[in-house]
Amino acid sequence: MFRTVRTLPRAGSTLFSLLAVVLLAGCGADQYPQTIFEPVTQAARDINDLQATIFWWIMLVLAVVIIALLVILVRFRDRDGAPEPKRVHGNNALEILWTLGPAIIVVLILIPTVRMIFDTYRVEPEDALQVEAIGHQWWWEFNYPELGITTANQLHLPTDREVQVTISSADVLHNFWVPRLHGKRYAYPEWRGAESSERVNFNTLLFNVEEPGSYLGQCAEFCGTSHALMRLHVVAVPPDEFENWTEAMARSGVPGEAGVVDVPEGEASELPTVGAGESDTAGVDEPGDSDPAAGLQTPPGDTAGVTATEGVDPEVQRGYELFTTNACAVCHAIEGVSQGQLGPDLTRFGDRWAVGAGLLPNTEENVARWIADPQSLKPGAKMPGTDSEGGGMPPTGLGEDEVRAITAYLRSLK
Ligand code: CUA
Repeated sequence: MFRTVRTLPRAGSTLFSLLAVVLLAGCGADQYPQTIFEPVTQAARDINDLQATIFWWIMLVLAVVIIALLVILVRFRDRDGAPEPKRVHGNNALEILWTLGPAIIVVLILIPTVRMIFDTYRVEPEDALQVEAIGHQWWWEFNYPELGITTANQLHLPTDREVQVTISSADVLHNFWVPRLHGKRYAYPEWRGAESSERVNFNTLLFNVEEPGSYLGQCAEFCGTSHALMRLHVVAVPPDEFENWTEAMARSGVPGEAGVVDVPEGEASELPTVGAGESDTAGVDEPGDSDPAAGLQTPPGDTAGVTATEGVDPEVQRGYELFTTNACAVCHAIEGVSQGQLGPDLTRFGDRWAVGAGLLPNTEENVARWIADPQSLKPGAKMPGTDSEGGGMPPTGLGEDEVRAITAYLRSLK
């Protein structure tokens, strides 16, 4: 009995130092980019405030219990010649007290929690930016239906605007989670985008990012072999920069064209033919101006007529030709180049922070490693390597220098 009394304060101080470590570990988004303790949206702040409130109430309960325990242990400890303690078994008052007490505490936690759950399902405002997040084994597809943009793994968002993310899955159950922006949401396989008539069982998240920055997230539901390698990156920028990004996403990925033609493809195709003669389009009537636009209308994947463009790195040009004539273009889309749907869209790939859905930093070395052997880096990846099959497809058989060229081309897409 004496031993218990003496070790208790020591156990208590160990407990408190452990708690301090846990609390300090939550500090600093620089070291812990997936912290929930530095929210940048009202939605994430509400969730954080709720957990903080509950946490401190629980700490109060813990303090009361520990103090009561210590007082009882010291006061009623065994002494020489002390009488037998009084039995309290079957004491109705005590039984009711220690059943009702915890029940009330649980209800007090439940009320604000349930209210918060309903709050996170509020109806979106009319002008919210619509984004579809679709989980795939093991990467994220992002569509902006109103803007006609598709991208993967790196989600660009404007700050100071409500964003409505509609979450679904192309295969199994995934879970969309960017801790500094909002809570977790399941990605159910039932929902298949805006064209589907059956809009069942899809989840949404609504939030407004207040600070420009980059926010890491990851799939939060076990979804197969490489579940842990299914990350995402949210890049939040001021509205005018977001506008620039959407324009850049509409530019062709054909080498040389992005730099020459500074208008989205859609607009380019609306340019009047030479000699149309309308006064407000006089500036584009000159043959010199319409040439770059004509280049944009090259059929995607048509490499027969491709000749090295002036000012384009020959390695990049070669990579482009290899990309369009090999299996790459069958699975991967690049604006103005290819329409593959099976793998991540690679438009402006050079701007991404990573390769393989957050697997490795986007460096020349890593991209080449990925193209050469995705299976060794991400077990189960549905992409073949140079000598290995993947996703039911045979090895690509690309040589080392060909991999280098494709790497150079992909990384040039900025
Ligand atoms: Cu997708 Cu875990």
